[in-house]
Amino acid sequence: MDEQKKYGGGKRSKILELNGITKKFGGLVANENVTFDVEEGEIVGVVGPNGAGKTTLFNSISGAFPPTSGTITFNGQDITSLPAHECAKIGIGRTFQIPQSLNEMTVWENVIVGALCHTDNMNEAMKKVNEVMELCGMEKFRDMVAGKLNVAQKKRLEIARAMATDPKLLLLDETMAGLTATERIEAVELIRKINSMGIAILTIEHNMDVVMSVSNRVVVLVSGRLLMVGSPEEVTSNPEVISAYLGGGSKDESDE
Ligand SMILES: Nc1ncnc2c1ncn2[C@@H]1O[C@H](COP(=O)(O)OP(=O)(O)O)[C@@H](O)[C@H]1O
Ligand SMILES: [Mg+2]
Repeated sequence: MDEQKKYGGGKRSKILELNGITKKFGGLVANENVTFDVEEGEIVGVVGPNGAGKTTLFNSISGAFPPTSGTITFNGQDITSLPAHECAKIGIGRTFQIPQSLNEMTVWENVIVGALCHTDNMNEAMKKVNEVMELCGMEKFRDMVAGKLNVAQKKRLEIARAMATDPKLLLLDETMAGLTATERIEAVELIRKINSMGIAILTIEHNMDVVMSVSNRVVVLVSGRLLMVGSPEEVTSNPEVISAYLGGGSKDESDE
């Protein structure tokens, strides 16, 4: 497909560039020489078997653990060794595979924590919270303690908190895992809405139907290495992807 046509014409710039990312934990190589980029306004899916290094890659991009080698560029700025709070400040928002909600705190309090990453001004932060609570359909849970939310609501809270940091790039780590089919449809709608606000999205997703329908391009990781990057059509028709995926262990439906 004509790339220019696919993205509505005009030249796009890269919002995120990963160049030769390697991450080692002692002798274990979780990511090896991973290179790809995300263009402004794009939705890029990340797939791969359990243990392929998907979350590790997000940890590098968001500044949680810097990579062992390689470079990460965000909006033209080298952020390879930028700490997590700085990455959040410059516009990289993320959710966590295991929801990190502060269970004793209310939904509102959880979201304002995100907003205060992006501004020191309390009024501005509160305005942001209202905005993202509405966007994520969380207003009705505003005063509920986060620990009482169900899985789908907790995943939404993760998204709301990440959105409160006012990201230009949003990293979603399995935000659909454990959701029912209806909840997944609602989550896809939310992702599309966020993307239509001009926010680029990198999303780790196990449900193939979801990832193929929502992504402009898909990155396939296997054993820490990049197997391919391509359109959903290219990825699903690649025999190597099919065999790596099917031969790569369980597809992590454990938390369903
Ligand atoms: N903090 C860590 N310390 C040691 N090993 C880790 C750490 N984080 C991840 N790993 C290992 O790195 C590999 C990739 O893990 P991960 O990135 O979580 O995979 P995925 O998200 O694709 O399932 C796994 O073998 C995992 O055990
Ligand atoms: Mg993971």
